Order: sequence, then structure tokens, then C-alpha cells
Amino acid sequence: SNPAETKTLEPAAIPAGVYAETVLDVTHYTDSLFRFRTTRPDGFRFRSGEFVMIGLIVGDKPLYRAYSVASPSWAEELEFFSIKVPDGPLTSHLQKIQPGDKILLRKKPTGTLVLDALTPGKRLYLFSTGTGIAPFASLIRDPETYEKFEEVILTHTTREVAELKYGFDLVEEIRNDEILRDIVGAKLRHYATTTREEFPFQGRITDLIENGKFFSDLGLPPLDPATDRGMICGSAAMLKDTKELLEKAGLDEGANNKPAEFVIERAFVG
Ligand code: A2P
Repeated sequence: SNPAETKTLEPAAIPAGVYAETVLDVTHYTDSLFRFRTTRPDGFRFRSGEFVMIGLIVGDKPLYRAYSVASPSWAEELEFFSIKVPDGPLTSHLQKIQPGDKILLRKKPTGTLVLDALTPGKRLYLFSTGTGIAPFASLIRDPETYEKFEEVILTHTTREVAELKYGFDLVEEIRNDEILRDIVGAKLRHYATTTREEFPFQGRITDLIENGKFFSDLGLPPLDPATDRGMICGSAAMLKDTKELLEKAGLDEGANNKPAEFVIERAFVG
């Protein structure tokens, strides 16, 4: 047998202290993006916005990567949103998963994109690029987000229009959900932009914040540390540039042990 092939996970191959969960469904959005859902182990608790290590046995060894849990903490199933890297050690295999397959899930979720890491405020800005929308997919489906904030603004920027579909489907699903519909109401705003293809809203979120178009498009006042809170998830460069803009507006970075005005997730970048 080819040692580079992903093997079916036989019970003997499951590393100790790790869950092996069943894939329930897989949706491919583009050549480079897909979503999948798995069963959730009894006793696997997490806070909306956290990430966990997920993996596969590749060759003879388990291989893990950090993934934000995209489903909210109350949901029965786990959802993940992933890129496909053609030669990626994990994603080249992960992109082939089918319903019924098993994935490995480490037991300890963690992360800084959690409501507990923010001080109270009125407006929550969730800034994402690419698959950085995943932790926010969790948070915008959590009723606690709307108990804590009067308004929640999700921004999602991708190169091409097709990459925005996961976010549009998500918001549509919330609007059609019997329970979430009433909780979310008009509190959630979704601002989607592209940078390399025609779309009604175009440009990097950093440029749109700087030139004010983001605020005028949504009819919102400039960022204000008295009322506004933020979370940022994207590439290393995007995190750095967005963080600088929030700091320039007077917001301070927080953490689990020191809540403040905004938080960023560094776990996914090298
Ligand atoms: P751009 O097309 O101008 O590079 P990537 O796939 O490279 O992570 O990019 C995802 C999205 O994030 C793209 O729309 C990209 O815009 C944007 N982006 C990349 N770097 C930054 C940055 N430093 N600040 C804000 N947005 C960025």
C-alpha cells in the first residue's frame, strides 16, 4: 500500500485521547473552498469563536491543523470551513472526505475570538477575509452575541465573488431559521467585498475603513472605543493592517485574561 494514502481510521489507529468523528456532509464552494459537518462528541464543549485541532491519519501518523469551529456552541453537529491547498499536507487529503469518513478531533478547544475577551459595548465588528469568516459563522449564530451587542457587523472580503457564497448562505440560513430569525432580527449586517472581480462592493476592508466608504455604505459612525468592539480573522498581513486601524481609532487589544476593545486570532498564521 502507498504510505502517502490516507487510511480508513480503524479503531486501533485512533490515537489515545483524541475523538474520531463521523463526517455528515461536505459542500464544495470553489476549487479552493469547502465546508464539512461532523458529529459532535458528548462532552466536547467549546465557546463560540474558538478553534480546535482536527486531523487525519496520513501515512501512518496523525496530522493536525487548527480549525475554527464554524458552528455555534449550542449546535448538535460541528461545522468547519476549509481551504484546499493542492499540495497541502492535510488539506490535500481532507478535501476528499466523504460522508461516513472519520476525522480526528483533539479534545481541547481554545482561542481569543470569544465574547469573554471583549469589554461590554454596543456594536460588534467582525472583520474577516477568506476562511477567516469561520469563527464568525459560529458567533453570529450564537444568541449570546445578540444579548451582548445591539448591532453586529460581519465583513467578509475575498478575491472572487464565488468565495463569498459560504457567507451569503450562512446569513440566509440565519434569516430562515425559526429560532435565530427572531433573536437576530435586524441586528446582523453583512458587508461583503471582493478585490479581484467585479462586485457591487469592492476593495480591501482596510482601504474601505481608511477612506470611510465602509461607514458611509452602512450608514455607521466612525469607530469609537466607547461603543465599538472588534474581532479580526484573516491572513497575517490583514490582521496587522486591520489591528493598526483599530488602534488608531483608540481601541485596545484584549485577551481572555484581559478583556478589552478588540481581539485577533493568530493561530492560523505562520
Ligand atoms: P487582495 O486581492 O488585494 O490581495 P488572501 O487569499 O491573499 O488571503 O486574500 C484574501 C482577501 O484578503 C483578498 O481579498 C485580499 O485582497 C485581502 N487582503 C490581503 N492582504 C490584506 C491586507 N493586508 N489587508 C486587508 N486585506 C487584505
